Amino acid sequence: MIAETGATILIIDDLAENLLVLSELLQSQYRVLAVTSGESGLRAANRLPKPDLILLDVMMPGMDGYAVLARLRENQDTHDIPVVFLTALSAAGDEERGLQLGATDYITKPIQPTLVLARVRTQLEAKQARDWLTNQNAALETEVDRRMTELKKMEQERIDHLKRLGEASRHLVSVQEDARRRLSGELHDRTSPNLAAISINLDIIATELPQEHSTDLAERIEDTRALILDTTASIREICADLRPPLLDYAGMAAALEGYVQQFAKRTGIEVKCDCANHNIRLAPDLESMLFRITQEALTNCAKHAHATSVTVSLHHGSRPIVLTVTDNGVGFDPERLGKIGRIGLGLLNMREMAEVAGGSYTIESSPGKGTRIAVEIP
Ligand SMILES: Nc1ncnc2c1ncn2[C@@H]1O[C@H](COP(=O)(O)OP(=O)(O)OP(=O)(O)O)[C@@H](O)[C@H]1O
Ligand SMILES: [Mg+2]
Repeated sequence: MIAETGATILIIDDLAENLLVLSELLQSQYRVLAVTSGESGLRAANRLPKPDLILLDVMMPGMDGYAVLARLRENQDTHDIPVVFLTALSAAGDEERGLQLGATDYITKPIQPTLVLARVRTQLEAKQARDWLTNQNAALETEVDRRMTELKKMEQERIDHLKRLGEASRHLVSVQEDARRRLSGELHDRTSPNLAAISINLDIIATELPQEHSTDLAERIEDTRALILDTTASIREICADLRPPLLDYAGMAAALEGYVQQFAKRTGIEVKCDCANHNIRLAPDLESMLFRITQEALTNCAKHAHATSVTVSLHHGSRPIVLTVTDNGVGFDPERLGKIGRIGLGLLNMREMAEVAGGSYTIESSPGKGTRIAVEIP
C-alpha cells in the first residue's frame, strides 16, 4: 500500500517473521519494501523509488548489518539515507558500534510497535527537514549564482559606461582646446590689424594736425594711443590665456615659465618655476592638459591662498611625468570641500583632466600649512 506520507521504508532482515511483523505495522502509513539479505538490501537501496529510511538487522548470515551500512555510506546515491539498526536486546555493544558506524538510531528486538512507529516517524521528520534544508540551500545557491551573474553584468556595464565616459571626456578636452585655439586666432586676426591701422592713422593725424589745434587735440590723440596700446595688450593677454602661443612653438616647459612670469608680475606673488628640460615635447593634448592644470592651480593660489611664495615643478624627462604646484598660503581642509560655501569647479576640473590623461591627482592641504597639488602621469 502506498503510504499517506509517500515515504518509502526498506526493511532488511533475514528472519521472515520479523519482516512480517514490521511490514504489517508500517504499511498502513508508508510504502514498505522488505528483503531478507544484505545484498538484496543494497540492490533495493539503489533502485527507485529510493528509500527514505532503512531498518537494518545487525545479525544476518553472509553480509551482516555493519557491512551493509559501510557499503551504503560509501555510495554517493545512498550515503545520506538514514539507517536504524534492529538489534537483539541481549547484544548490548551492537547499538554503540552501529551508532559509531553512522547509524542514526536503533530499535531493540523483540519490537514494541508504538516505539517503532515513534522512532520511524522521528527519523522521517528529521530526514524531511534535512531534505528541505538541502533544497533550500540549492535554491539559495541558484539565486546567489543568478545575482552574481547579474552583478557581474552590471559591473561590466559600469566599466563600459566609464570607458565611454572617459572617451567622451577626452573628446571634450580636445574639442575645448580646439575651440580655444580658434577663438584665440579669430580674436587676434580680427582685431590686431585694425588696431595697428588705427594707430597708424593716429600718427598721420598727429603729424598733419594744424598748429593752432595741436595742444588740445594732441592730448586726445595721445590718450587714444594709450587706449589702443592697453586694448592691444589686453587682447594679447586674453589670446595667450586661451591658447598660449609658446605652447605650440616652444613646448610646455617654456609656456609654463612664460605664464608663471606673467602671473608673478600680475599678482606680486613670488613664483619659482622648476621645469627641467625645454626641448622635451609631449603629446599636444597632454601638454595642454598639464598647462591648464597649472593655470587652475595658480589661479587658486591668487584667489584663495594669500600665499607669498609658490613653486611650480615639472619633471617630464622620464615617466612618470610629475607636476606639482606648492604654495605657502592659508591652506584648507580638502575633506570639507563642498560642505561649506559655494562649490568650485577648479579642483574638479584638475582631477578630471589628470584622469583623462590617464594619470592621478592628489591634493595635500591643511589650514595654516599651505597647499600642494600633484599630478602624476605614468
Ligand atoms: N591653493 C589654495 N589655498 C587655499 N584654499 C584653496 C586653494 N585651492 C583651493 N582652495 C579651496 O578650495 C575651494 C575649491 O577650489 P576650486 O578651484 O575647486 O573652486 P573655486 O576656486 O572656489 O572656484 P572656480 O575654480 O570654479 O572658479 C576654494 O573655494 C578654496 O576654498
Ligand atoms: Mg579655482
